[in-house]
Order: sequence, then structure tokens, then C-alpha cells
Amino acid sequence: MAFYCSRLLGLFLLCSSSSVVGYVRAQFLSPDFYNSSCPGLVSIVQAEMRREVAAESRMGASVLRLFYHDCFVNGCDASVLLDDTQAFAGEKNAGPNARSLRGYDVIDGIKAKVEATCAAIVSCADILALAALEGTVLLGGPSWRVQLGRRDATTASQSAANRELPSPSATLNDLISLFVSKGFSAQEMTALSGAHTLGSARCVNFRSHVYGDADVDPAFAAKRLRNCPAVTGFGDDNWEPLDAQSPAGFDTAYYQNLMLRQGLLRSDQELFNGGSQDSVVKMYSSNAAAFRNDFAAAMEKMAAMSPLTWPNGQIRLNCRRVN
Ligand code: HEM
Ligand SMILES: *[C@@H]1O[C@H](CO)[C@@H](O)[C@H](O)[C@H]1NC(C)=O
Repeated sequence: MAFYCSRLLGLFLLCSSSSVVGYVRAQFLSPDFYNSSCPGLVSIVQAEMRREVAAESRMGASVLRLFYHDCFVNGCDASVLLDDTQAFAGEKNAGPNARSLRGYDVIDGIKAKVEATCAAIVSCADILALAALEGTVLLGGPSWRVQLGRRDATTASQSAANRELPSPSATLNDLISLFVSKGFSAQEMTALSGAHTLGSARCVNFRSHVYGDADVDPAFAAKRLRNCPAVTGFGDDNWEPLDAQSPAGFDTAYYQNLMLRQGLLRSDQELFNGGSQDSVVKMYSSNAAAFRNDFAAAMEKMAAMSPLTWPNGQIRLNCRRVN
């Protein structure tokens, strides 16, 4: 049975379905949700992420992106972690995710450790929310409060993932309207894009911008294109850092790069291209505290997108499939 819920006065959920309309005592997200049922949860996630990021710093970025791609498609419900089944085509093979999203095995590893301590208690969605924070913090990023108590989806939608994740060739207007449709202001979109101070992108996603667009620094283009042949189908999956100055450090270099016409993606450079976000990019480029603050606040907001709570969803035992 499908329930549609919205927050009311922070006290109750108003829930309705085709057969039930009424007030239901809420099970709210709270940072203390597992304090008694799984007190070791946060330290398990921290230890596992520390190990993973020490082995490969980029994994902190990859897990942050995994969480964002989960939240933007039907909320933070771990739907992105579901493998395809005969019943549905999952999100993993959607255009923005296929051959691109990383970190599934890291989440599986954390989940196994958590199950060994607190069996069938902690959702994959909450593990992903905690791991994304940890990955960010380990790379020097800000911290935010992680609310817990999400439950896991029993289905995933490839078509929604194709529709609701932004394209690297998006214009500024595309980006703003997509983020506004998800409840974020243009400035919050620009702050969240600062995640591209971390991690890498593939040739197939930056080729046309770096080869073709007029607003690209030529010396930067020459470097980025050494490993990205002009011809489609050649070197498509070759990765280059989104922020070549400091790909494993959460800092303001991403914004400084944009002001130097060194945005790797068309969608990055759109934020500093004579439009409404130029002043925000300038401000973040020289005000690390403002960037960190705004990024953390926007991540806390992202983490609260359409949470799936009891009586909906389930606690998946294996993040890759429904129970
Ligand atoms: C504003 C619209 C956005 C667009 C168009 C966009 C697009 C992309 C693309 C195309 C890639 C490279 C993927 C590949 O080449 O396979 C990427 C990487 C990445 N994105 Fe975004 N992104 C956006 C916003 C965000 C947000 C809001 C976050 C997180 C808060 C984020 C975090 C990341 C990270 C961390 C990576 C690097 C991942 C890795 O190295 O594994 N992005 N993004
Ligand atoms: C829950 O645990 C966290 C972390 O150990 C702690 O900071 C917090 O005060 C605890 N909350 C309650 C209500 O006990």
C-alpha cells in the first residue's frame, strides 16, 4: 500500500493512501535513531571509510556522489544500490550512472560489518548517508548533522534516474530549474556543485566542452585533452580530475578554476559564464568559510529529501537486493 506523507508541525505525519487517510504517530529521522539499537554504528562507518579513503582517496568523492545520486532520484532510499531484476531496470545502468558511479562495494563492505554487529537493524540508506559525510570529512570537507531512521526502497527506477540527474552539458538555466524543482535555490546549487572540488570525470563527459567551447583556457585544454582523443568512441572512459589543483582536497580551488575558465564540464563553467551565479562563484572562491557552511547546510537538506520511513520500505539485509 502506498502512503504519501508530509510533515506537519514537526509532530505528526499526515499520511494518506487510497484506503487510509489519517494522522499516524510519526517515526521521525533523528541523529539518535540507532543509539540504543546499534550504538557502534557511527564508529563502524568511520573505521571502514577511513580504511577505504586511505587506500584510495578518490573513494571519499565517489561515495559522496553515490549519495547525491540516490537522494535526487525518489529520495534518499538506497534505491541506487539495487541491482537490476526481472521486475525493474535499476538506477545503476541509467545514463548518468553506468560506468560512472563507484563505491557500491564499499557500501557492501560497511553493511556486512554493520550486520555482523546489529543484524537487520540499520538501513542501507542510513549507511550511505553516514558514509557520504565521512568521505567528505576525510578529504577535508565540513561536517553536517546526519539524521537517521530512513528505510530502504523495494524498487528502483532507471527512467527516473535518467530524468532527474543533471547532464554535464546542461545550461545554467537547466541546472537552476532542475535544482529548484528539488527544493534548492540557485545559490545552493552553486554551493553543492563545489563537490567537484573532489573526484574525476570521463572524457566522454568533457570532450565537447574542452575541445569545442570558446570559454576554455587553452593551456588547461591542452593538458586535459592529452588523454582524451577528439574522436567519439576513443578514450571515452579516461578519467581526469574535476579540480586538477587538488582533486583529493575539499577546498575553494573549484571556484577559482571556474574564474580562470578551467571548468572541466560544460555544466561547471556555466556557473561562471556571465550569468546570475558569477557573483556567488567569486564569493566562494575567496571565502572558504562561506562555502563550507553553505555546502554543509545544503547537504543536510539533501539528506532529508523524501525520506522513506516506517511503515514504508524495509531494512534490506543486502543492499543490492530486496529481502
Ligand atoms: C550541478 C549539476 C551536476 C552535474 C551536471 C554533475 C555531473 C557530474 C559528472 C558528469 C561527473 C563525472 C562522471 C563521469 O564522467 O563518469 C561528476 C562527478 C562527480 N560529481 Fe557531479 N554533477 C553535478 C552536481 C553534483 C553534486 C550536487 C554533487 C555532490 C554534492 C556532485 C558530486 C560529484 C563528485 C564527488 C564527482 C566525482 C566522483 C568520482 O570521482 O568518483 N556532483 N558529476
Ligand atoms: C547518541 O549518541 C551520540 C553519539 O554517541 C551522542 O552524541 C548523543 O548524545 C546520543 N544521544 C542520546 C539521546 O543519547
